[in-house]
Amino acid sequence: METQDNIFARSEGDRWFERNAGALQRFNPAEDTPLKLMQFYGVNPRSVLEIGAANGFRLAEIQRRSGARAVGVELSHQAIADGRARFPLVTLVRGAANSVPLREAFDVVIVNFVFHWIDRAHLLRSVAETDRLLRDGGFLVIGDFYPSNHLQVPYHHLKTGSVLTFKQNYAEVFLSSGLYHPVGLMTAHHASKKPDPEVTEDERIGTWLLRKELQRHYVNSEINRNHG
Ligand SMILES: C[S@@+](CC[C@H](N)C(=O)[O-])C[C@H]1O[C@@H](n2cnc3c(N)ncnc32)[C@H](O)[C@@H]1O
Repeated sequence: METQDNIFARSEGDRWFERNAGALQRFNPAEDTPLKLMQFYGVNPRSVLEIGAANGFRLAEIQRRSGARAVGVELSHQAIADGRARFPLVTLVRGAANSVPLREAFDVVIVNFVFHWIDRAHLLRSVAETDRLLRDGGFLVIGDFYPSNHLQVPYHHLKTGSVLTFKQNYAEVFLSSGLYHPVGLMTAHHASKKPDPEVTEDERIGTWLLRKELQRHYVNSEINRNHG
C-alpha cells in the first residue's frame, strides 16, 4: 500500500496548498501561536528550520524580525514554487520529514501541524530527523492536535479512506526521551485558534515550546546513594 508520505508528496501536499493559498496570503503574524510563543519567551534564533513549511510564510516573518537564516522543508512543489517567488530570503528545499536533505543543526526547529499526517511507519524516523536538525540548547516548536487520547480520524479531503489524521500529543515523544524539557504550552480550539477551556478533545490543539538540553537535567545517582 502507498504510504501517506507518498500520497502527500504526489498530490495531497499540492492540494492542501491550493485550498489554503488564499488564507496564507492573509496570514496575520500577531495571531500565529508558534510566533506568539517564541515572542513571549524571547526566542530570537540566528537560524530556524520549519519542517512542512508550506510556502515559508512563517519563516519569512521570523527572517524579517531577526534576520535569521530561514530554511523550510516541504513536499508540495506548488508551495515551494510560490514561496521562492514570494519570499526570496527564505530557502525552501523539497524533502520529507523522515529524510531531510540538510546537514546543519538549527537554533530553532518548527513542526506545526505536520506530525499528524506522517505515515506511522515513518513517525520515529521523522522524530529522529527533527532531533538531528536541532542543536543542543536549541528550541523545538511543535503545534498539533492535543487530545487526551490517541485519536485516528479519516482525512475527509480524500474519499478513498486511505489517509488518516493521527491526533496525539507529539511533544510527549520528545519529552519522554529526557532530552527535551517543557518551556511553554498554549492550547486553543482548532477552528477559532482561540483559547477555549470547553473545547472537545478532538478539536483541542496545543503548541509547545520545548528546549533541547542533552545533559543538564540528569540527576547524579551518587547524590541518592550518599543520602540513602
Ligand atoms: C497542515 S499543513 C501545515 C503548514 C504549516 N506548517 C502551517 O503551520 O500552517 C502541513 C504541511 O506539511 C506538508 N507535509 C505533509 N507531510 C509531510 C512530510 N512527510 N514531510 C514534509 N512535509 C509534509 C504538507 O505539504 C503541508 O504543506
